[in-house]
Amino acid sequence: LLAGAAGRPLKGKRALVTAGPTFEPIDPVRGLTNRSSGKQGYAIAAALADLGAEVTLVSGPTALSAPPGVTRVDVETAAEMHAASMSTLPVDVAVMTAAVADWRVDDVASGKIKKAPGGPPMLSLIENPDILASVSSAKSKRPRLVIGFAAETSDLEAQARAKLSRKGCDWIVGNDVSDEVFGSDGNAVTLITRGGAKAWPRQSKAAVARALAARIAETLTD
Ligand code: CTP
Ligand code: CA
Repeated sequence: LLAGAAGRPLKGKRALVTAGPTFEPIDPVRGLTNRSSGKQGYAIAAALADLGAEVTLVSGPTALSAPPGVTRVDVETAAEMHAASMSTLPVDVAVMTAAVADWRVDDVASGKIKKAPGGPPMLSLIENPDILASVSSAKSKRPRLVIGFAAETSDLEAQARAKLSRKGCDWIVGNDVSDEVFGSDGNAVTLITRGGAKAWPRQSKAAVARALAARIAETLTD
């Protein structure tokens, strides 16, 4: 009994994880997306479920299958990811790993856009909702712990800290993407909290996920 309780410290806790890219249509056959594989987010969903949490994984298009015991909600666009994420609240912890497209096409064509003598089409973009900021400011439904990710190519800690305060989340997992991260199995992250920053050793995405889940469990159970 004691061993069981110790092994599943997140039993009875609810978690939201967003993962993968979003896909923003241009017309019925084309779209804007990015190179996120979803691996880190899926690994975090799995690690939280392993610790006993009830996990909803809101996922953009990926080649991955849902980890055992995790409820996956499939979405394509940022607007869909926003709506699906908000409808999972209240949760105890939200981990926003998705690479949400910053913009979507304002006026999606209803038919396939054809090449025309007038030259290429002009795409007009508008900004997508910020899901992390929305979850962080969800008044009575705000999760106790809201965690964002930040992939930066320079000034990792300063940029991540600016995001933490701009978006109102509690922690940022900063990712140095100057070397390979996208699609790879390894990750070097820095955990930035309101109190400080700590660089973790480079390790597999699964190990990053387990360490983060353990840290979440510590925080939610004290
Ligand atoms: N995020 C989100 N919704 C968005 C954009 C970002 O939830 N529309 C979340 C991501 O899932 C991540 C965090 O915000 O957890 C930081 O994403 P990032 O793209 O680094 O932040 P942006 O504010 O979009 O800044 P940038 O201009 O650097 O892309
Ligand atoms: Ca962005």
